[in-house]
Amino acid sequence: MSSSRKPIYVLNGPNLNLLGTRRPEVYGTTTLGDIEAAVRARAAGWDVEFHQSNHEGDVVDRIQEARTEGAAIIINPAAFTHYSIAIHDALEAAELPVVEVHISNVHRREPFRHTSYVSLQADAVIAGAGAFGYEMAVDWLLRTLEG
Ligand code: DQA
Repeated sequence: MSSSRKPIYVLNGPNLNLLGTRRPEVYGTTTLGDIEAAVRARAAGWDVEFHQSNHEGDVVDRIQEARTEGAAIIINPAAFTHYSIAIHDALEAAELPVVEVHISNVHRREPFRHTSYVSLQADAVIAGAGAFGYEMAVDWLLRTLEG
C-alpha cells in the first residue's frame, strides 16, 4: 500500500551492498535486498526510499533530497559514520527524525569505530542488533511519526 505521506528514507553507506558475503561472522548472512524487503514490510502504509552508495557525495545528495521530500531518515552510514563531517552537516540541515543503525556493535570493535559523527545528529542509535536493527528503527520511527 502506498500513501500520500512523504516517504521514509533508508540510506546505506559503503560496502553494505556486499552484505551476505562480507564478513558474515560480523554482519550475518542477510543481504541488503533481504533488509529492504523486511523494512518495506515493517513500514506498511508508508512509502520507503531505499538506497545504497559507496560514494559520500551520493549519500549527502540523498540526505538533501530527504530534507525536502522525506518524512524521516534511517541511516547506516557504514565507514562514513566515523569521519564524515559532510554527512553530519547534511543531517543537521535536514531537520528530520534520524535513526542511526549499525548491524554490528561498533562499541565492541576497533577503537576507530567508537567515534560517530552521525550520532550527534541522531535521535536514536541502534547497534549490534544485526539486520533486525533496521526493523527496530522502523518501529521506533512509526511510533514517533504516528504519535
Ligand atoms: C557498520 C559498522 C561500521 O564500522 C562499518 O564500517 C560498516 C558497517 C555496521 O553496520 O555495523 O561498514 O556500519
